[in-house]
Amino acid sequence: MTTADDAARNSGVGATSDDAARPSRSFLSRQERFRSVPSTNDIIRSWMADGTGEVCLAVADEQTAGRGRSGRSWVAPAGAALLMSLGFEPTYVTPERLWRVAAIVALAMADAGEEVAGLPIGMLKLKWPNDIVVAAPDAPSGVHKVAGVLGETDGAGTPAVRAVVGIGINADWPREQFPPELAEAMTSLREASRGRPIDAGELLDAFLLRLEPRLLGLREGRFDVAGWHDRQITTGRTVRIDMPDGTAPVFKAVGVDGASGALLVEDAAGGERGLLVGEVTQVRLVTGGGDAETEPGGVTL
Ligand code: BTN
Repeated sequence: MTTADDAARNSGVGATSDDAARPSRSFLSRQERFRSVPSTNDIIRSWMADGTGEVCLAVADEQTAGRGRSGRSWVAPAGAALLMSLGFEPTYVTPERLWRVAAIVALAMADAGEEVAGLPIGMLKLKWPNDIVVAAPDAPSGVHKVAGVLGETDGAGTPAVRAVVGIGINADWPREQFPPELAEAMTSLREASRGRPIDAGELLDAFLLRLEPRLLGLREGRFDVAGWHDRQITTGRTVRIDMPDGTAPVFKAVGVDGASGALLVEDAAGGERGLLVGEVTQVRLVTGGGDAETEPGGVTL
């Protein structure tokens, strides 16, 4: 157990408490659990800046300044979600394949979530790039978001490359406590399993168990391209792509590219192109009525 002062120094932003146990798995260099922190991604950044190597793991019961993709915030009541970040030093992938680090986190969590919630294999899908969702034909968006992944990299192409991958997964969060403005776009493992209580510790163990072989594979140049393809919910669907310039063109998503990580889309004229993560603000599924979902982020505000 380290002190609150240690935690505050470690996070650099005023953590309130923590539990520094021996890492639960040998591939982890450091593992700590915090009751409340601003953002677990910031804790990992600060640890790595202080010299902590891969793979370090910070878990929080609650975040007071959780971050989502594209500058959005990420909210979840204390104890409702498993919130964590992992720090990697991915010198073993080329800069073009850095996206695979976040992808193995999403894939390991999809596998773990299905196991712990007793869901059919393949029920948890990925909405490119790394949202974990379940199909929800009656929802305006056609999906309910279960988890989001935020990857932040530094030093790509140098020996000092670092990747911080944060993931928040709605675990034991009952529907009646969903924020009303997000209730149509989100769900939790508890709800997806029709009320099965989800233990965050069990989910974390199941995730780490599945992450380790995926990471060892990445270190040896392997990546589960087929598994990544199979989980994609966008393939074959019409999508509206919010671009950073404010435009929102509509395409047919035809697949994903296992080399570049791109979302492969086809325009109305049949021309195919690949969109990279950095080129896109948001992907929205277009539902049968032709309306794009309003906000796919289950807990982004
Ligand atoms: C998204 O917008 O879908 C990504 C959300 C990522 C949220 C997680 S929760 C743990 C980690 N810490 C953060 O501040 N964000 C990530």
